Amino acid sequence: MSKIIFSFSSKAIEGFGPTVLGLFGTASEPKLLGQEIFSQHQLQSLKLSLKPESVQRTLGPDGSVYLLAGLGENFELATDTWREIGGAVARHAQELESLQIDFGSTHSQALLAFAEGMALGNFAVKTQKHGAKPVVLHKVHFISNSSPSQAQLKRIDVLAEAVHLTRDLAVTPANLLYPELFANIAKEAGAKAGVDVQVWDEHELAAQGFGAIVAVGQGSARKPRLVKLSYQPADAQLHVAVVGKGITFDTGGYAIKPLAGMYGMKYDMTGAATAYSTVLAAAQLGLPIRVTAWLCLAENMVSSTATRPGDVIRARNGKTIEVVNPDAEGRLVLADGLSAASEEQPDLIIDVATLTGAARVALGTRYSALMGTPQGVAIAEVAAEHAGELVWNMPFPKEIRKSIDSDVADLANAKIGAHGGTLLAGHFLREFIGQKPDGTQLDWAHLDIAGPADNEGGAYGFTPKGPTGVIVRTVIAIFESMAVKTS
Ligand code: BES
Ligand code: MN
Ligand code: ZN
Repeated sequence: MSKIIFSFSSKAIEGFGPTVLGLFGTASEPKLLGQEIFSQHQLQSLKLSLKPESVQRTLGPDGSVYLLAGLGENFELATDTWREIGGAVARHAQELESLQIDFGSTHSQALLAFAEGMALGNFAVKTQKHGAKPVVLHKVHFISNSSPSQAQLKRIDVLAEAVHLTRDLAVTPANLLYPELFANIAKEAGAKAGVDVQVWDEHELAAQGFGAIVAVGQGSARKPRLVKLSYQPADAQLHVAVVGKGITFDTGGYAIKPLAGMYGMKYDMTGAATAYSTVLAAAQLGLPIRVTAWLCLAENMVSSTATRPGDVIRARNGKTIEVVNPDAEGRLVLADGLSAASEEQPDLIIDVATLTGAARVALGTRYSALMGTPQGVAIAEVAAEHAGELVWNMPFPKEIRKSIDSDVADLANAKIGAHGGTLLAGHFLREFIGQKPDGTQLDWAHLDIAGPADNEGGAYGFTPKGPTGVIVRTVIAIFESMAVKTS
């Protein structure tokens, strides 16, 4: 749909489409990277911005359209910056069918990052608007002496598709996406991708001890589901489980949110969308590892059947939980998902969740909070660095563990008036990570994406306004790092 076909050759293609050139240097001495269609004097009089991510259109002396992309002072840019510049170019060129890129002899690693950014940024948020403009950019030709491998280009396609899929699901309004429908979508896509799909409905969940997912979903007419997607190639040795928070809407339940906080809670299933799109990506890439995605799907509503503050429930691993706060529902559905994932003894458990408003307070809207076992955190940090995504490792302060003690159950899901909400939630999740045979905890990385999942500001780089698909590429990079360990 919005896929770009990239080609590379040392020659321009006649009549292909507008050309993108790099613009660098200083305001008094601007220079072009690629064909020198303007003299420095002409460039100066155009008063263009040289800042990375600025893209400006101009007519060349030959009468054809050029896009000039700012590359800073000397175009010695970090890979991450090339990726963002590619995204900015794609966003500015969405109504053009094809583009040629001429960055002279820029090295192939930079061009590859630029291409990845273009693929990620070539996206229009799905709407129900009449007359919404579709993305038409689908052919990009690089005029370059070096060219990436087919595998590198395929990887870009798969990453972009996974990110776009996550964004599309996340932005879908809650009246149009609910647990049962999400499960059906997963069944259909899994069958196509050669990924095995198992779904638990509300009766099976209750019968098999998933008391936390049941409790969160029982207030809604749209019943909860647990979806397991298994990608298991014959050559797999290592096994990664990805557990996603899939609250298709979070009203807060009987701790009902005021409108300002409730609006936007259609995004509360972004973790499940991430688990879903990344297991499909692993299959498309044919990675030699086993990946299991667990989508913990429920709608947190208010009704006469909803969970009350103070209700005590029982999670899949047998622990009882006092639901002090029905708005702390994400950790409840994850409790069951993490327990089930642990039963299979994977080599690494990742969970992704729009879990706490406190993560946004602490880290703003670009960083994801990372918690977990030392090994899990280390793997996630390396992968995030590789993907160019921002994560920040958070502590497990031991005095905060007391905040999840309950007078009546093994655990409480929240404490009224507690501080450090992200850390408290991390402590809670930790109680549902199973053990290895030697009694130590399974390796685990928890990613709280409450801050960056929804970009409420304007579009930038390859990120649109609205759903970002953040952490999808980090999760895939984790898979890839495990695949390397295998070989
Ligand atoms: N889904 C929210 C967290 C959230 C808030 C995500 C803002 C994105 C933006 C979560 O279920 C929630 O309500 N958390 C509560 C926890 C509290 C009740 C202990 C919160 O953060 O206020
Ligand atoms: Mn909530
Ligand atoms: Zn929530």
